[in-house]
Amino acid sequence: DFEVSLRPKTLDEYIGQEKVKENLKIYIQAAKNRGDSLDHVLLYGPPGLGKTTLSAIIAHEMGVNIRITSGPAIEKPGDLAALLTNLEKGDVLFIDEIHRLSRQVEEVLYPALEDYALDIIMGKGPAARSIRIELNKFTLIGATTRAGSLSAPLRDRFGVIQRLELYNTEQLSDIVKRSAVLLGVACDDDGAEEIAKRSRGTPRIANRFLRRVRDFAEVMGDGRITADIAKIALNRMDVDKLGLDSLDKRLLTMIIKGYDGGPVGLETLAAAIGEESVTIEDVCEPYLMQLGFLSKTPRGRVATQLAYDHLGFLKDGQTHL
Ligand code: ADE
Repeated sequence: DFEVSLRPKTLDEYIGQEKVKENLKIYIQAAKNRGDSLDHVLLYGPPGLGKTTLSAIIAHEMGVNIRITSGPAIEKPGDLAALLTNLEKGDVLFIDEIHRLSRQVEEVLYPALEDYALDIIMGKGPAARSIRIELNKFTLIGATTRAGSLSAPLRDRFGVIQRLELYNTEQLSDIVKRSAVLLGVACDDDGAEEIAKRSRGTPRIANRFLRRVRDFAEVMGDGRITADIAKIALNRMDVDKLGLDSLDKRLLTMIIKGYDGGPVGLETLAAAIGEESVTIEDVCEPYLMQLGFLSKTPRGRVATQLAYDHLGFLKDGQTHL
């Protein structure tokens, strides 16, 4: 890989998600002491928070190999069987977007998770035979943005279920500074904080912004990242002071101007702005809710006073901001 990897390799290098890290340390230590594999792990939360990174770290800390795949990539039961029969004792199989596994593939996964075995059915009708293939013990790490979309039988087979949270500005600042060192670019504290504040609680976004701000710093400045150059670069990229992009703004503006501030149902809103409802739910809403700009009520989405203030809209009956 030509690009410098910014992914941490150990739990101690991994910034944030303190509760998840502390728990995982215990489970890893306990499994290693028993000479056992780690129980199956489900990681869920918004995209870009480090679910793949954390899985690679878990494998590294357990001293095993990791195989990385995704729900949509496993099309047929045979695809899963091929993956499972190639795992060595204790290995990690990482399945991203695990909520997108097909029913038939899920059926093959259950005995694999529970009994470390594959049940292969050969033939049809009265002549059908089932043969059982024993597998090496392994750890499945599943990742999903939507734990609610997982079938109950699949969810129940994970011994460890951890939710990843959006990062705060201080944690993202630390991630940006660590990444800047790895990239060999000078970045002062205020520059890192400016990038952090606009990264929607998401390390993947922070690292992407860091690389782009570096481009601006090298071409327009002396190569050093400061708050000023970060502001110039991020404004040019249409990212506002709080990291809202054009989709977030379209969403909030539609609630405020189109539906009087809400409540308005998710599907109605999605149709109104021409965006998929899952994108709104998984990508936009977690951050807007963290900012306190959006609330979910039983009757639909509501834009808060803070959202009106940030976008410069007045609420009915309000005469000044
Ligand atoms: N890069 C991406 N996510 C990270 C994290 N949580 N800690 C350190 N570096 C990261």
